[in-house]
Amino acid sequence: MTQPAEPRLNGRPDTATPGRLVAHRGASRVAPENTLAAFRIAAGQGARWVEFDASLLGDGTAVLHHDGTLDRCTDASGPLSAFGAADLARIDAGSWFGPGFAGEPLATLDQALELFDALALSANLEMKPQDGPPEALAGVVAAALGRRPWTRSRILVSSFELAALKALRRLMPDQPLAMLYEDPPDEWPDVLAALGACSLHIWHQALSDALLARAAREQVHVRVYTINEPARMARFRGAGLAGVITDHPPLFLEDPGWAAWAADQEV
Ligand code: G3P
Ligand code: MG
Repeated sequence: MTQPAEPRLNGRPDTATPGRLVAHRGASRVAPENTLAAFRIAAGQGARWVEFDASLLGDGTAVLHHDGTLDRCTDASGPLSAFGAADLARIDAGSWFGPGFAGEPLATLDQALELFDALALSANLEMKPQDGPPEALAGVVAAALGRRPWTRSRILVSSFELAALKALRRLMPDQPLAMLYEDPPDEWPDVLAALGACSLHIWHQALSDALLARAAREQVHVRVYTINEPARMARFRGAGLAGVITDHPPLFLEDPGWAAWAADQEV
């Protein structure tokens, strides 16, 4: 794969594919979240970006998982820390969602990155340290990304955990980063500037005209999660909103206005 130029936003590392429409945990409305199947389906729906959650098992293997335990989204039970790479072969991360997904593996970060490269998908990797040290997760993520030079331009790393992002920035000075907040504190521009983060990711209900205006002054992208009602975002579409993270891309892509907006910055 050719290496795109290295874009920067306000001097901060940015992705080469800004990606306005992002499939949350893959196509999570119609497939088990954070699985390879969910990413394949998202790509089939027309999404060029996916979001996923990265956490560590007890032996330091990075897997795609939102919760601190395997109970909700697999056929296993217990905290992630009680499992390791040797357990992956017997964990089913698809049956809980539907019989058509039986046998879907609990994906490792390496498997996911390989698939993204094959499908030319870009991704928002959300680091979720759970109860473990944020630096440990950041170290494993940095090593996985470091093995694949294309990720520099096609992976945007985010987290609610500032310590995880700080650790990643120390290890990867040029990796595009995003700070996640449910509701951003007043000092968010200082936090993003200190991190060298190019994007602010917030809960959709925290979005306002004032926040978009401030983000424009600060020259950072704003993306909102998790929005499954396009109409609620319509007035922000032409007002500088950089991206939406949704469980169901067709909600946006089947609407000509949103489809045009999404296509504007897709490659
Ligand atoms: O990255 C956006 C969104 O995924 C953050 O919340 O809980 O769905 O990981 P959550
Ligand atoms: Mg997430």
